[in-house]
Amino acid sequence: MPHVEDLLRPELADIKPYLPTAGEFRVRLDANEAPPLFGPEVGARLAEAFARVRLDRYPDATSVELRTALAARLGVEPEEVLLGVGSDEIITFLLTAFARPRRGSEPPAILTTTPTFVMYRLSARLRGERVVEVPLDAEWDLAEESLLRGIDVSEPHLIFIASPNNPTGTMATRSRLERVIEAAEGSLVVIDEAYVNYAERDQLELFRRYDNVVILRTLSKIGFAALRVGWLVGPKKLVAELDKVRPPYNMNGVSQALATVVVRDLWHDVTHLIDRVKGERARLAAELGTLAALGVTPSDANFLWVKTERPAQEVFEALSARGVLVRSFHASGGRLARQLRITVGTSEENDELTQCLRDLA
Ligand SMILES: Cc1ncc(COP(=O)(O)O)c(C=O)c1O
Repeated sequence: MPHVEDLLRPELADIKPYLPTAGEFRVRLDANEAPPLFGPEVGARLAEAFARVRLDRYPDATSVELRTALAARLGVEPEEVLLGVGSDEIITFLLTAFARPRRGSEPPAILTTTPTFVMYRLSARLRGERVVEVPLDAEWDLAEESLLRGIDVSEPHLIFIASPNNPTGTMATRSRLERVIEAAEGSLVVIDEAYVNYAERDQLELFRRYDNVVILRTLSKIGFAALRVGWLVGPKKLVAELDKVRPPYNMNGVSQALATVVVRDLWHDVTHLIDRVKGERARLAAELGTLAALGVTPSDANFLWVKTERPAQEVFEALSARGVLVRSFHASGGRLARQLRITVGTSEENDELTQCLRDLA
């Protein structure tokens, strides 16, 4: 008799669950959330919205109010917006929808860069898909020629490009990105703009210029990670197809109601939060830049990509011992062995981090 475990996908055997670092830390700068900077009036508006949610009924299956609010904010149409439980869920919709086998039975491939957000790779591997990773260049920008070769060789169904990228905080040079899009006529290019609110430009109009481009965004990095609201902007016909993959009522009623208020009525507060984080980012980068043992890559996101003179693991452990959690990439080895990713926190958190790093120098 086969054991039930023998029925599980073999890929599960070497995949670890995606879990944040466990433990008590005074300062958590590891997950790229925004610091808690909203005033009490924001909480009061959200409490009012919560009080109006009917908890006894299923929520609106089409999330029309939220899609309409987002569409108005972005200057697109509600039918061009697809909602997910975080952009994580939308990544899974894309992989499910674009899983047509190649040449009869071959699993499809996805192409992405490295280092980048791990869920593209994890979600694809989980589905038995091939993952082609093209290293970023020495400035952490798109390596155009390698990407073009990767597209030629692997004929990916999906290409995931985070811009600004996690963990490097860098934006793809526009001309390089466009060359990749133009070379990838037979692929859907997913431009993940999770951090774009912290950048000086965005890439939204590329979905109008090219019919093989969609854009991902999220509320997670601008103050509302707990709501789990992400969205895709793309051509109406494609959004309608992806909508067939979406589980019924995926967007819960509380998140729909609160996110609608955030996007429609509280955007001024969100913008203010973004400006404050950008100010702190500049201050933190300047402070860390004075430490000889560190090198800071200019960031278009709400975190810094920091090169350490000592192995990153040592610095990570020393910070953890002082109650400050950051993200280390030492386990990836190679040029990442001396890289840390540090989320911009409150002024107090940033000061505490800076002081710890000074003490370690
Ligand atoms: C580039 C990128 N895309 C998407 C996500 C996931 O965001 P969400 O919280 O909307 O699922 C993250 C989270 O870290 C990210 O770094």
